[in-house]
Amino acid sequence: MAMKRIGVLTSGGDGPGMNAAIRSVVRYATSNKLEVMGIFRGYFGLINEELKLLDHRSVSNIINRGGTILKTSRCPEFLTPEGQKQAVETIRKNQIDGLALIGGDGTYRGAIELVKKWGVACIGIPGTIDNDLNGTDSTIGSDTAVNTALEAIDKIRDTATSMERIFVVEVMGRESGYIALQVALAGGAEEVLLPERKFDMPIMCHEIVDGNIRGKVSWIIIVAEGAAKGEDIARQITEMTDLEARVVVLGHVQRGGNPTARDRTLGTRLGAEAVKLLMAGETGKAVGMISDNINIVDLEFAVSRKKLEVEAAYRLLKILT
Ligand code: ADP
Ligand code: F6P
Repeated sequence: MAMKRIGVLTSGGDGPGMNAAIRSVVRYATSNKLEVMGIFRGYFGLINEELKLLDHRSVSNIINRGGTILKTSRCPEFLTPEGQKQAVETIRKNQIDGLALIGGDGTYRGAIELVKKWGVACIGIPGTIDNDLNGTDSTIGSDTAVNTALEAIDKIRDTATSMERIFVVEVMGRESGYIALQVALAGGAEEVLLPERKFDMPIMCHEIVDGNIRGKVSWIIIVAEGAAKGEDIARQITEMTDLEARVVVLGHVQRGGNPTARDRTLGTRLGAEAVKLLMAGETGKAVGMISDNINIVDLEFAVSRKKLEVEAAYRLLKILT
């Protein structure tokens, strides 16, 4: 049976560029005579029937805006069979023939449940600043987050150099060192601590003391939140080197702001692709982009954690400091 109405939702942590994806889903679908139900607050909105029909005009002026007009949430209730049953009832009651779900690996795991246990047609669109999904070079939001963090680090560098201080900068990524590694390389940091790589505190402190003896006075040390707490690292540096280390936690500032061109085009291309797949009767897939070409994988593959190659980049960073 041909698709008549699809649903679109954003779920998990928001990321700049999600709005561009929503706009693309809505406009690509409506231009193909499909109706689109916007589902608010991710799985919470499915469970609690928070829906609204979205027309062409409803997504005007959002391509440039961070966040998500559909709101987003983390929804523990959806982890229970009762929560999922409720969500599926909403889908059936509102005659939604398929879903485009914009989110990270948790969102994709939820979609796998909907496909496998409940027979709902689902296509995933990668949206998370962590860039930790398989099947795509980049996830929507990660490019903007890296650039936002980098801008902050450039500013920290000004004061670090002028006041001759050590700065520890904690960036987001509970399980992923993607943002940390990118900004460390692009920001010319002296050191980076990643969840993907073992780290030796005494060696780093020894290097700092050694450098200090040779006249080096300022350092920028990037810490991914999944590797350690910036605060702890700064304290240990101060204790071990006798040099004061300051800490800056960039936090949620990294999730906001206008999306970069890359995140807008990614959201735009992937949103349309997800609708195409739903119209073709596909389900259980995730859309992505590899070397600027559309890449389609199973949701299960997408959530098998992407391995961040850190060694070569780390070695280069150390050579250049
Ligand atoms: P993200 O999608 O950014 O990784 P979360 O991990 O918070 O964010 O996941 C978003 C939501 O997806 C969760 O709040 C929950 O409702 C749902 N979800 C996460 N993991 C599962 C799972 N294993 N099974 C079903 N639903 C899940
Ligand atoms: O969306 C991913 C992410 O930003 C992670 O990098 C971070 O660890 C987490 O979400 C923070 O989540 P919350 O805003 O729920 O504390």
